[in-house]
Amino acid sequence: MARVFSGIQPSGELHIGNYLGAVRNWVALQETHECVFCIVDYHAITQDYDAGQLQTRTLEMAVSLLAAGIDPERSTVFVQSHVPEHTELAWVFMTVTPLGELERMTQFKDKSQRQESVRAGLLNYPVLQAADILLYRADVVPVGDDQVQHLELAREVARKWNARYREGFFPEPQPHVGAGRRILGLDGEAKMSKSLGNTIGVFDSPERVWELLRPAKTDPARVTRKDPGDPEKCNLYTLHQYFSPPATVREVAANCRGAQWGCLDCKRVLADHIVRTFAPMRARALEFAQQPDRVREVLADGADRARAMARDTMRTVREAMGLLPASEVVIRS
Ligand code: TRP
Repeated sequence: MARVFSGIQPSGELHIGNYLGAVRNWVALQETHECVFCIVDYHAITQDYDAGQLQTRTLEMAVSLLAAGIDPERSTVFVQSHVPEHTELAWVFMTVTPLGELERMTQFKDKSQRQESVRAGLLNYPVLQAADILLYRADVVPVGDDQVQHLELAREVARKWNARYREGFFPEPQPHVGAGRRILGLDGEAKMSKSLGNTIGVFDSPERVWELLRPAKTDPARVTRKDPGDPEKCNLYTLHQYFSPPATVREVAANCRGAQWGCLDCKRVLADHIVRTFAPMRARALEFAQQPDRVREVLADGADRARAMARDTMRTVREAMGLLPASEVVIRS
């Protein structure tokens, strides 16, 4: 069976952008692949973050993944910092990665522009990501389209390491971009993202979903209720296509074009379908949240399984690179 690896930042509870863009795919891939899923806390610390919140956010993300249908019996689910080989292999890969490649990554350029002092962790972010994937010698990596460039870098790192040390050892991982379309936030402009505050949470209550949708941006040409709208220019129509049944989607489009419905009418229907879609997940999340020990156990077990695979890879890496095995020296302490 081909192996899948993917990672997600510990940003707390999932939002519908995470879910549609990534996690929904992960759940499906469990049927056909051996899957390894990682909560990437070492990636999260490359930007300003709240150290007092990171533990909670990490556990919340674990609860979210389990509630969304990641099955720890079938898949390995763990936290990146619990498997030290990730950072070890990242160091090794830094020795084969051209600096210029890192400097031209779109995400690095974006994020470094917004900062006064750029730290090396941000530059090396994609090297750690390559290590995540290649540590498990994964073949397929389900990601959103914004990560395709990082995957290209991972393939280049694999090629460079293989050429220098051992031909064919690391497979070149392929991106698996799901539904494709990027999910915009409620501002209708930027990608849906927790740090931008434009999200709807997968586990938000019906009241909260409505509170968020009510003021959300629609077709800007629709100023009054009587103006006909263009669904194709409305971010919420995109969401209807994900959450509402096809007959409803057609009805929404017709009533928007003909101005029979105002935007609020359309939003009410959308809120209802979003809430219905996630009701079972929300119930499961509430259950897991009441059993923190069970969640910790899943993560401990996942880390054990991941570490076993990671150790195997690192043994070969060290041997191929000519490093002296620790087992051949007596360490007195
Ligand atoms: N950079 C990814 C993101 O922001 C998260 C990530 C880290 C990842 N390591 C990974 C994704 C390995 C896929 C594979 O979404």
